Amino acid sequence: MEFRRLGKSGLQVSVLSFGAWVTFGQQYGVNEALEIMAAAYDRGCNFFDNAEAYAKGQAETIMGEALTKSGWRRDSYIVSSKVFGGSVEKPSPIQRGLSRKHVYEAAYQAIERLQCEYLDLYFCHRPDPHTPIEETVRAMTELIQRGDVLYWGTSEWSATELMEAYAVARQYDLIPPTMEQPQYNMFHRYRVENEYARLYHPDTIGLGTTIWSPLASGLLTGKYNDGVPADARINLPGYEWLKAMFESETSKARLAKVPALAKIAADIGTTMPKLALAWCLKNPNVSTVITGASRVSQVEENFDALAVVPLLTDDVMAAIEAVLQNKEHSLHGAS
Ligand SMILES: NC(=O)c1ccc[n+]([C@@H]2O[C@H](COP(=O)([O-])OP(=O)(O)OC[C@H]3O[C@@H](n4cnc5c(N)ncnc54)[C@H](OP(=O)(O)O)[C@@H]3O)[C@@H](O)[C@H]2O)c1
Repeated sequence: MEFRRLGKSGLQVSVLSFGAWVTFGQQYGVNEALEIMAAAYDRGCNFFDNAEAYAKGQAETIMGEALTKSGWRRDSYIVSSKVFGGSVEKPSPIQRGLSRKHVYEAAYQAIERLQCEYLDLYFCHRPDPHTPIEETVRAMTELIQRGDVLYWGTSEWSATELMEAYAVARQYDLIPPTMEQPQYNMFHRYRVENEYARLYHPDTIGLGTTIWSPLASGLLTGKYNDGVPADARINLPGYEWLKAMFESETSKARLAKVPALAKIAADIGTTMPKLALAWCLKNPNVSTVITGASRVSQVEENFDALAVVPLLTDDVMAAIEAVLQNKEHSLHGAS
C-alpha cells in the first residue's frame, strides 16, 4: 500500500480506502461487514468512510460493531462520519443541516454508533444554504478543540464556499477545512481537475481530497455493458433514483465508451475496474480513492489497482483521453 498526506496535514491516508455507502445496513450485517473491511485492512487500507445518513445511521452502527469485533488497534485506522442529511426518517429542520446544534448532535451520535472515542475525519456532507458558514466553521473548530474530531472537511462544496470557510477561519483564528470529498471518476472530473485547482496549493487551503464513486457506481466496471446484472446495487429497494440515473441518456452515452476503455485495460493486461481506479490514483491531488464493494472478491480486485498505476504511461493516458473526450483545460498532474 502507498500513503499520501491528507492535504497539507500530517495525516497519512492509504491511497485506497473503503466506504460503507449502499452496502452496510442494506446488503450487509456485522459479520459480512467485518469480512469485507478485513479484506481491505489486510491489504493496507487505513481509512473507513461513513456518514450519519447512510442507512439512517445503521451503516455506522454496523461499522462500529465490526471495528470493535475486529480487535484492530484504534491508532491503526482512520474513521469518518459526515453530517448534513440526518439519521432519522424525515428529519425535522433541527435534525439535519449544518447548524451548531446538528453538527454537535450528529458528531456525538456518530461517535456512539461507531464505538470510537473520537472521529478522525468529520465532513459537512453538503453545503447548507440556511446556516452561515461562520457558524459551521466555529462548531467544527470547537469539536476539534474538545478532542472529539481530529480533522474537519466538506463534501461537494464549491470552490467559492471552500474559500469562504477558509477566509472565515483565518479572520477569526478558527480551524480551516483540511479535506473535501468530491465525486471523481473518468466520467466526472471538472470539479477536481479544474474548479479546485487553486485550492490544492499550500499557500491557499492545501486541500486534501477523499474522492467518491471512482467506478461511477459500477458503470466503469464493464458489467453493465450487456444489461443490468440481477445482483447489482441499482436493483436495491430505495435506489430507484440510481437506476433512473443509469437509464438516462447521459449514462447511455457514457456506457457506450466502456467497451473501448475495457479494450485499453485488456491491452495492458488488466481489468476495467482496476484501470478506472488506477486512473484516479494517477492524479496527485487525490489523497485517497474511496472504494465501494458488495463482496470480498471486488475488494481483492480493486486493491490490486495500485499495481496498474505504473502501466498508465503517457501513451495509455492519451488513449484513454481519446475515448473519454471530456477533458476541460485539465490541470491533471498539477500540484
Ligand atoms: N460524499 C458523498 O456524497 C459520497 C457519495 C457516494 C459515495 N461516497 C463514499 O464513497 C464510497 C465509494 O462510493 P461508491 O460505492 O459509489 O464507489 P464505486 O466504486 O463507484 O461503486 C462501488 C460499487 O461498484 C460495484 N463494484 C465495485 N468493485 C467492483 C468490481 N471490482 N467489479 C464489479 N463491480 C464492482 C459494487 O456494486 P454492486 O453491488 O452493484 O456489485 C460496488 O458497491 C462510498 O462507500 C461512500 O463511503 C460518498
